[in-house]
Amino acid sequence: MKITKICCIGAGYVGGPTMAVIAQKCPDIQVTVVDLNQERINSWNDENIDNIPIYEPGLGDIVAEARGRNLFFSTDVEKAIHEAQVIFISVNTPTKTYGSGKGMAADLKYIELCARQIARIAKDDKIVVEKSTLPVRTAEAIKSILDNTGNGVQFQILSNPEFLAEGTAVEDLIAPDRVLIGGDNHTEEGRKAIDALVNVYANWVPKDKILTTNVWSSELSKLTANAFLAQRVSSINAMSELCERTGANVNEVAKAIGMDSRIGSKFLKASVGFGGSCFQKDILNLVYISKSFGLHQVADYWEQVIIMNDHQKRRFANNIVQTLYNTVADKKIAFLGWAFKKDTNDTRESSAIYIADDLINEQAKIAVFDPKVPENQVFLDLNYLETRSSEKNRKNVEVYENAYEACQGAHAIAVVTEWDEFIGYDWQKIYDNMQKPAFVFDGRNLLDGNKLKAIGFVYRAIGS
Ligand code: UDX
Ligand code: UDX
Repeated sequence: MKITKICCIGAGYVGGPTMAVIAQKCPDIQVTVVDLNQERINSWNDENIDNIPIYEPGLGDIVAEARGRNLFFSTDVEKAIHEAQVIFISVNTPTKTYGSGKGMAADLKYIELCARQIARIAKDDKIVVEKSTLPVRTAEAIKSILDNTGNGVQFQILSNPEFLAEGTAVEDLIAPDRVLIGGDNHTEEGRKAIDALVNVYANWVPKDKILTTNVWSSELSKLTANAFLAQRVSSINAMSELCERTGANVNEVAKAIGMDSRIGSKFLKASVGFGGSCFQKDILNLVYISKSFGLHQVADYWEQVIIMNDHQKRRFANNIVQTLYNTVADKKIAFLGWAFKKDTNDTRESSAIYIADDLINEQAKIAVFDPKVPENQVFLDLNYLETRSSEKNRKNVEVYENAYEACQGAHAIAVVTEWDEFIGYDWQKIYDNMQKPAFVFDGRNLLDGNKLKAIGFVYRAIGS
């Protein structure tokens, strides 16, 4: 089977970049990305390529090249489903905020809605691909909905989890470590569907990097990868606290152990805690699945990764309060960064939100500057926590368009995102305009502590 038409439901951080790269690499395939959110689709279609809704280095050029040629963004979900041979489901699967599994299980309502819609519309055989991260065995539920509510056509379900990291999405998609495709390898039709998707990726990914497995292995591998990565961050963050007490330096420790080829150097940067849309959600999901199988030790083991991460965020906020003579009431604290990591405008689960929330509880005035996060997003994030009224958040937080203004008159600076531009700032100028003593809390070990100390700052970094 040769694929010529693909549709993707969900024009988000995963669906958008992934489809853009498929379209760029496969000019013979028509790729249509659909979304319920009209505003988001309008932004993807904006003539000014700088206005596309997702910031990723290199993404603008790719969209500019393929858009209108074989890459389309639309809200006409039905038409796109009707025409496509392959339908990717890339809608969000947030942690449930209600009912059983609240705060842990993945909320699959959007997935189910997609499945029902596909079943209703499809008039010929379709391959349905799970792109969203899903609990293991979700494909079974999708299959059952499709087969029981459909028009008698055949559906093949594949799992093709995305391993891209935000900020490096384009790189990760163009040169992936591996592509994982899970499908029903026991039937002829299943194998054909797997091959069809393999051939799409084979347009640019070497065949030996395209791994095929059964559906359940593929679903579980994605959760496992994220759990292992998050665990490394929590492990090094746990050591960062011990380093602070003992005079060891966590960067030196990380370097020393990272050179052990059995351990490796990646994901060993101590930080204010991991954020992002995936790690916490996926681990909670893993914990929930383990519990539901009665595997309580397995659940507790993974839950500790989250507990450590929450601790690291709170510890950072506490450290600021304690160092500023146990009170931050009415003190201006500048936040450099708000996104969950550099090179993205995504703020989901960003540590900055929780640290700001703790400090506002202590009546601090927060001054935020992030190169890519707009003002309204900062308030959306704080209001979402429902710790206090939105008026109170407005009163305690100000968002600046310029870092120097954000730091003007501040008692302390908290570096919470590792944007490269922070390194090159005129730190002497920043220091001169701050309250004295002026403090820098470096939550990313980004800045040169020796240089800042020479200027006169009181410098504190995570783990040193
Ligand atoms: C993705 C994956 O889907 C998620 O499972 C993974 O764990 C994280 O990354 P992401 O692309 O980051 O999610 O989510 P988001 O940026 O919120 O995009 C989802 C899009 O789907 C939104 O634009 C939303 O409007 C759209 N959507 C949602 C639909 O079009 N239909 C729906 O029924 C639900
Ligand atoms: C992650 C996975 O890496 C990706 O494979 C998956 O598909 C989606 O989830 P993402 O959340 O985009 O990607 O970013 P990632 O680079 O993994 O960082 C997650 C968080 O961990 C960030 O807040 C980051 O700052 C933090 N982190 C990462 C550290 O604190 N230290 C590190 O050494 C690495």
